[in-house]
Amino acid sequence: MKTSEKRENNLSHLAIIMDGNGRWSEQKGLPREDGHKEGVKSLRKLLRYIDDFNIPYLTVFSFSTDNWKRPKSEISNLMNLLRKFIQTDLIELHNKNVKIRIIGNREGVPKDIVKLIDSSEFLTRDNDGLYLQIAFNYSGRDEIINALKKIGTSIKSGDIDPYNINEDIVNSNLFTAGLPEPDLLIRTGSEKRISNFLLWQLAYTEIYFEKALWPDFNKDLLTKAVNDFNNRYRRYGRIEERLKK
Ligand code: IPE
Ligand code: IPE
Ligand code: MG
Repeated sequence: MKTSEKRENNLSHLAIIMDGNGRWSEQKGLPREDGHKEGVKSLRKLLRYIDDFNIPYLTVFSFSTDNWKRPKSEISNLMNLLRKFIQTDLIELHNKNVKIRIIGNREGVPKDIVKLIDSSEFLTRDNDGLYLQIAFNYSGRDEIINALKKIGTSIKSGDIDPYNINEDIVNSNLFTAGLPEPDLLIRTGSEKRISNFLLWQLAYTEIYFEKALWPDFNKDLLTKAVNDFNNRYRRYGRIEERLKK
C-alpha cells in the first residue's frame, strides 16, 4: 500500500495482549504448544499487515513474569518459540526498517535469549519504521518498582529533589521511556482484564476486548478494532466542547 493510501487515524500507539493460544489448541484437541506456535504465526502476519494501518508504535505482550507459574514444559516451549522467532524473523523485520525494543526484566531470562534480545535491539537501533516493543518477562508492577528504585537512587545522589518528582520523571524511568502512551489496547481471547500490563501507561488508553483467540486474530479484526477506536471520543476528564457554555 502506498503511503497516500494508508489509513488516516489518530492511533499512534497500539498495544495488544495476545491471549487465547491455550484455548485455541484445547478447542481443537491439540497440545497447548500448537496454540503458541499458531500465536507466533498470527504475530508474524500482524507485523506484515500493520503496515497498512499507519500505526507507528506497537507493543505486544508475549510473556508475563506471572507466566513463570506455568508448567516447566510450557515455559520451555515458549522460550524456544521466542528464540526461533528472533532467529527467523529478525532479518525480515530489520529489512523492513522495524526498530525493536524488548521491555521487561532481563533477570531470570536464559542467557542466550538475553543475547538474542540485546542483538535484535542493537541491529535495529537506527531503524525508523515501525517501533515494535515486545513485552517479555514483563510485569507492570515490576516496571513501576524498577522506576522507583532508579528515582530513589537519583534522590540519594542528590540529582532529584523528591518534591520535584512529576509524571515526566516517572515516564522517563519506565521501560517505555520516550514512547507515547498507548491510544488503544486490544485484548483477544475474551478475558476482560489488564493482567499486569502497562499499568501506568494505560491511564487514558481506550480498551477493546476481542472475543477471537489470538491465533485467529487477523486484518479484518484489527480493522474492526481501529474503526471502533476512531469512533470514540476521548475526554481525558474534560466535557465535550458542545456542552461548554
Ligand atoms: C497467551 O495465551 C500466551 C501467553 C500467555 C504466553 P495463553 O497461553 O494465555 O492462552 P489461554 O489464555 O490459556 O487460552
Ligand atoms: C496475559 O495473559 C499475558 C500474555 C498474553 C503474555 P495471561 O493468560 O497470562 O493472563 P491471565 O492469567 O488470564 O490474567
Ligand atoms: Mg491466557
